[in-house]
Amino acid sequence: MEKLVIFGGNTLKGCVDISGAKNAAVAILPAAIMASEGICNIDNIPDIEDVHCLERIIESLGCKISREKNSARIDSTNMNSVCACTEDVRNMRGSYYLIGALLGRFKEARVELPGGCNIGARPVDQHIKGFEALGAKVVIEHGVVKAEAEKLIGANIFFDIVSVGATINVMMAATLAEGTTILENVAREPHVVDVANFLNSMGANIKGAGTDVIRITGVDKLVGCNYSVIPDQIEAGTYMIAAAACGGEVAIKNVIPKHLESISAKLIEMGADIIEGEDSVVVKSSGRLKAANIKTLPYPGFPTDVQQPMSTLLSVSEGRSVINESIFENRYKHLDELKKMGAEFKVEGRIAIIDGVNKLTGAIVKATDLRAGAAMIIAGLIAEGVTEVHNVESIDRGYPKIEDKFRGLGADIKRITE
Ligand code: UD1
Repeated sequence: MEKLVIFGGNTLKGCVDISGAKNAAVAILPAAIMASEGICNIDNIPDIEDVHCLERIIESLGCKISREKNSARIDSTNMNSVCACTEDVRNMRGSYYLIGALLGRFKEARVELPGGCNIGARPVDQHIKGFEALGAKVVIEHGVVKAEAEKLIGANIFFDIVSVGATINVMMAATLAEGTTILENVAREPHVVDVANFLNSMGANIKGAGTDVIRITGVDKLVGCNYSVIPDQIEAGTYMIAAAACGGEVAIKNVIPKHLESISAKLIEMGADIIEGEDSVVVKSSGRLKAANIKTLPYPGFPTDVQQPMSTLLSVSEGRSVINESIFENRYKHLDELKKMGAEFKVEGRIAIIDGVNKLTGAIVKATDLRAGAAMIIAGLIAEGVTEVHNVESIDRGYPKIEDKFRGLGADIKRITE
């Protein structure tokens, strides 16, 4: 068991390098197994537990993976299994991308239902609707999604809701379908575009990723390629908010500032200074910011994954803030932990009303999920006294070397193994 121990109160100064995007990497690794010829060399892969999990799963399917620093070489030419049913599959969300990848390449997939953060019901009905529209027969038995098709045939698919997972999963399967697929009402997140670019580098023909209609012309096969994952929008947003909350001046490097606009705009509205460079943003803050209202929305709206870190900042901002969490129905569990540190709030369904307090005080708290963990670390950094954050495993799923990166900015934070 590990915990993070934080002595709060330090301002943050210096530079932090942002890693490759978790939510792109956990889709690109499964997409790589669709190469029936050649090798995929993928760079800028974040060193996180969800990636390690996927690598183990992919190896269990008969792929060869070698890792060097942030790069992976994946040889899937001799894959020999379409069945991903292990604890790793159950423990993470991104494992659902194996359904689209296996169905696309082998026209058959057996994949256990995914796990991931407990932030709502998180059904996969839109994924299944898409696979069925392409001609697959899909059933769920004993917790396993079984999908198979004689052949996949391109179709027009209108998603009922905007889903990152369903967009990417169905897009993957459709790359190897016969004919043209048109996906409408799709997610426009940067990682949807990144996965489409990766698949196109493998020989796919995908147009429109980043808009709300994606057009895919099926190809016969995908082949290996060289690719570099985009920077992590959510990791960058987390450090931006930490800098704003702690005060000081932090340069957040290796980012695409355009992907951060909704977060930058909100921090500016609250009183922080943001200076955008070509591949960096500098956040300057003198300390206490003003309250603000936030509604989480699909990209380019304010990301739900940044809502939790942001709520920590709002808990010490001057005045009353209102959060409307429109994506997930149960994403406020971290606020009960924040209460132990003195936060004042009321939750009514998807709305949280937060009254900013003058200070938080250190306490023993837990990371109730991945982004909740980031919220608790930021709380510890600004709190008076010592904070212990337990259940660090949740944080390690998605933030590479988080305590090293914060220590590099002047935070007093260490990991203790019990
Ligand atoms: C992905 C991200 C997660 C992020 C979320 C929203 C990964 C591994 N995870 O999760 O970090 O918070 O996007 O940006 O990339 N829904 C359905 N039916 C479906 C699919 C989704 O009703 O078939 C609902 C979900 O319950 C949720 C909403 O649609 O309310 C959006 O979910 P979705 O975009 O699919 O999120 P995930 O892919 O689970």
